[in-house]
Amino acid sequence: MEQLEIRALNTYYGESHILRDVDLTVNSGEMVCLIGRNGVGKTTLLKSIIGLLKPRSGQINFAEQCLDRQPPHQRARAGVGYVPQGREIIPQLTVEENLLLGLEARPGGMGRQKRIDPFVYELFPILRDFLPRKGGDLSGGQQQQLAIARALMGKPSLLLLDEPTEGIQPNIVQDIEQAVRRISREQGISVLLVEQHLHFVRQADRYSQQSLLELIFAHFKGKPRLTNGTILGILMFDLS
Ligand SMILES: Nc1ncnc2c1ncn2[C@@H]1O[C@H](COP(=O)(O)OP(=O)(O)O)[C@@H](O)[C@H]1O
Ligand SMILES: [Mg+2]
Repeated sequence: MEQLEIRALNTYYGESHILRDVDLTVNSGEMVCLIGRNGVGKTTLLKSIIGLLKPRSGQINFAEQCLDRQPPHQRARAGVGYVPQGREIIPQLTVEENLLLGLEARPGGMGRQKRIDPFVYELFPILRDFLPRKGGDLSGGQQQQLAIARALMGKPSLLLLDEPTEGIQPNIVQDIEQAVRRISREQGISVLLVEQHLHFVRQADRYSQQSLLELIFAHFKGKPRLTNGTILGILMFDLS
């Protein structure tokens, strides 16, 4: 079933026309990977989906609702989780406080129950140990884990991930990649993943002789379908 459906999206920065008639569909439970070189508009697309940028034209439907007029917090409450490029955790707040902020994205807001979802600790055990630490004292990889965990606290049905492995040490890249797959498989959350560098794919030696496209297909072992994004390479994977 189509969960996110984007039609003919056009987004500008001032007079710079960045997204040109972008069409994209993410089906329920699907993991879709967006690739493209620096500056093509991957982040612009995710920001348009979550509502941080206002497209000039086009349509964004999510779970059969039209999001076009909704502000970002309503899109979050409708079930769209967003992990921005660069993580954007709050350095002065503790890990626990950063996580609890994620509750704001639930339909009732932070509500009364300030409880951290056990699945978060299952995915990222380090966060439990670091609850009282300041977010800013964590390593880059740990901050990325925190940012993903914070988004999961909102109980999204679609998670937008913007280059979660960018600038992260290789051992944690694997943890993050594995966590993303678990989020998709075990929680049934759809994922729209921006991965420019595909560090994790390249690291697997047995794929190293193949072309990048084959690498990606092989890596996800799904049934790949290539669709025509206007300016973006859009690859879809069925992980079931
Ligand atoms: N705040 C901004 N103001 C003006 N132009 C921007 C802004 N942010 C990004 N751009 C431009 O928009 C284009 C797409 O950027 P972006 O979506 O960040 O690319 P990507 O995420 O694919 O690297 C780039 O050419 C970039 O220079
Ligand atoms: Mg970007």
